[in-house]
Amino acid sequence: MKKADIGLIGLAVMGENLVMNMESKGFTVAVYNRTAEKVTNFVNGRASGKNIIGTYSLEELCANLERPRKVMMMVKAGSAVDQMIEKLIPCLEEGDIIIDGGNSHFPDTIRRTAYVESKGLLYIGTGVSGGEEGALNGPSMMPGGSPAAWPFVKPIFQAICAHVEDGSPCCDWVGENGAGHFVKMVHNGIEYGDMQLICEAYMLMRDYLGMSADEMHRVFAAWNETELDSYLISITRDILAYKDTDGQPIVNKILDTAGQKGTGKWTGIAALDEGVPLTLIGEAVFARCLSAMKEERVEAAKVFPAPAAIAPEDKAAFIEDIRKALYASKIISYAQGYTLMRAAAKTYGWNLNYGGIALMWRGGCIIRSVFLGKIKEAYDANPELTNLLLDPYFADTVKGLTDSWRRVVASAVLSGVPMPAFSSALAYYDGYRSEFLPANLLQAQRDYFGAHTYERLDAERGQFFHTNWTGHGGNTSASTYVV
Ligand code: 2AM
Repeated sequence: MKKADIGLIGLAVMGENLVMNMESKGFTVAVYNRTAEKVTNFVNGRASGKNIIGTYSLEELCANLERPRKVMMMVKAGSAVDQMIEKLIPCLEEGDIIIDGGNSHFPDTIRRTAYVESKGLLYIGTGVSGGEEGALNGPSMMPGGSPAAWPFVKPIFQAICAHVEDGSPCCDWVGENGAGHFVKMVHNGIEYGDMQLICEAYMLMRDYLGMSADEMHRVFAAWNETELDSYLISITRDILAYKDTDGQPIVNKILDTAGQKGTGKWTGIAALDEGVPLTLIGEAVFARCLSAMKEERVEAAKVFPAPAAIAPEDKAAFIEDIRKALYASKIISYAQGYTLMRAAAKTYGWNLNYGGIALMWRGGCIIRSVFLGKIKEAYDANPELTNLLLDPYFADTVKGLTDSWRRVVASAVLSGVPMPAFSSALAYYDGYRSEFLPANLLQAQRDYFGAHTYERLDAERGQFFHTNWTGHGGNTSASTYVV
């Protein structure tokens, strides 16, 4: 019997769908699951009559694989992955490849790559985005790990992933050890940001403009024909049109408390670790936290009244302002996300291909959009771009959006509609374009209370000064340190 091209462990929905996808592209797949019943159900059900081999032990799984063996784990992230690696190592031989397709945290993938390589094997940690449907029909895939493993895995991954109109695969090598899972993490953080931006636009329309779900449905349908054309805008359009059994929009009946699984939080933590202002994604994570405090908010609403809203004179014009504010804020979010990837690449020694990452996100995943094509063009034109905002296309675009953006944020502030993502994006933009920030005063404060010293505008950089502010603090400065 022909041996399998790849083995897959973990027959939950994502795992099963990936197997079906691989088989449909002409690969033979051997499968294993901890709970044996799932293997039996799968091979007798969806997988029957297909080139899918059910196995009931890891030894049997590995015996059924072509060398170098490729074993992909689709098990629960966390300790299950470590346990599975331990069990797999004795079943594999030099040069064989272990792949983790779960949502692992990138430091784990860095550690596991080193460990698996120390055993003479190769490792890949890959982001897989697109949910169940993506797994079946073409996900966005972001693989990193042992570079030597990539040539063996590439034909399979680039066959099963999503493809853009010109046929380019939404999957390419990201970089060493944890780079793939890092990029997947940033993808998820950006997803948090994109969703929050859409929700803020919705809240302004609902609460400030008093629009119905049907009216908003039409607005999102129109927006999806513009630069905002994306998966998340299209599902928002459809959600707003969806009626409950009583004919009322179902969205109005859903409790306003957001859940989260932690990848947005990881992105925020990574940004704090790198010292990168990832403000919009941070606000998106905190907005979910605030939404979760429903009971407290209900009480607070009784104590603190909303200001009287000043309705705009021209509603249609204001809706267009919201669209532009959303677009501008979205550009900021991606600029911040890319800045984080650049910083991490330096820290961890990854040689990231930023245009390639935009292409991987262009199709298959939750943040897929036409907009990512523009980001790809920007990084293809200048792979060393320090900030996406400085790309000529994005610089011009943002400049053309600022009037609308300011009007929207100002109106939201005056009417008491919370816009953490829109307004933090604008604050970042205004900070980024400020030649002089108030950090001169901040440095003076630090020097005043802690003798932390400061640099001067009229002296060379790198020369540090201390002032005896009170006359009795002494002239000794603390050693300087960079926070
Ligand atoms: P199960 O069907 O035996 O629970 C998603 O939870 C997938 O991960 C399932 O296929 C599940 O297998 C698998 N999984 C979770 N924890 C596991 C572990 N510790 N060892 C092996 N498989 C595990």
